[in-house]
Amino acid sequence: MLKKLKLWRNSGPSSNLQERIQQVKQQKVPSHIAIIMDGNGRWAKKRALPRVAGHHEGMKVVRKITKLASELGVKTLTVYAFSTENWKRPKTEVDYIMSLPDEFLDTFLPELVAENVQVKMMGYKQNLPAHTLSALERAIHETKDNTGLSLNFALNYGSRAEIIEAVKDVLKECKSGIMDENDINEETFSAYLMSKNIEDPDLLIRTSGEIRLSNFMLWQLAYTEFWFTDVLWPDFNEEHLVEAIEVFQRRQRRFGGV
Ligand code: FPP
Repeated sequence: MLKKLKLWRNSGPSSNLQERIQQVKQQKVPSHIAIIMDGNGRWAKKRALPRVAGHHEGMKVVRKITKLASELGVKTLTVYAFSTENWKRPKTEVDYIMSLPDEFLDTFLPELVAENVQVKMMGYKQNLPAHTLSALERAIHETKDNTGLSLNFALNYGSRAEIIEAVKDVLKECKSGIMDENDINEETFSAYLMSKNIEDPDLLIRTSGEIRLSNFMLWQLAYTEFWFTDVLWPDFNEEHLVEAIEVFQRRQRRFGGV
């Protein structure tokens, strides 16, 4: 009997996942999930492949996770694809990562449009290769009227630089009299950040076993729930996303209250 039960359990991982998805949907799903997609290089190394193979596999995972997040009713999915510090990597690797938005959007844009996904970008546009920027801008334009999930690419993004730029802009506006010093508060300051029209993340996921923020959304993550996993990004799948959300749903968020 026990053996039969085990067999039954093992036979249906996907139906089990479907059940978990349905359960997760009955509770509060995080409105904004931000992901630090880490471990592509290690994934490739384990398979004796070049590092870029890991990035390519990681790109496919973005599609898979976007699809599920959209199905779950997540409003915003931010993926950290390239930091302002990632320029330090070998040029061939940087060039490869910069070609991924083109490939991703060439391949998946029709699907994203069909799924009512809106593409957004958060990061410094200067320094981005023209082909990367134009692929993103085209996708942003073509999906601007979509009302479903926002897929927000953090590309050439760095949080400290973002905060410093915001401080400078606020100072300029105070000097020119557009803004009064007394009007500076958390809400008004947030409007000077790159995330200005995006709510703060409810859930942050980082893969690959690293437990740090790596200059990612330092202001915006103030009250976010963190979930870390040892899974390398190219191995991340729907079950992992569901698990992260299940953990999120078991947590109590107090925002500093009791
Ligand atoms: C970190 O892993 C990953 C990156 C810096 C790049 C992430 C990019 C993708 C997953 C593809 C993005 C897809 C689109 C569509 C833009 P790592 O290279 O630091 O891994 P390691 O720590 O194992 O070396």
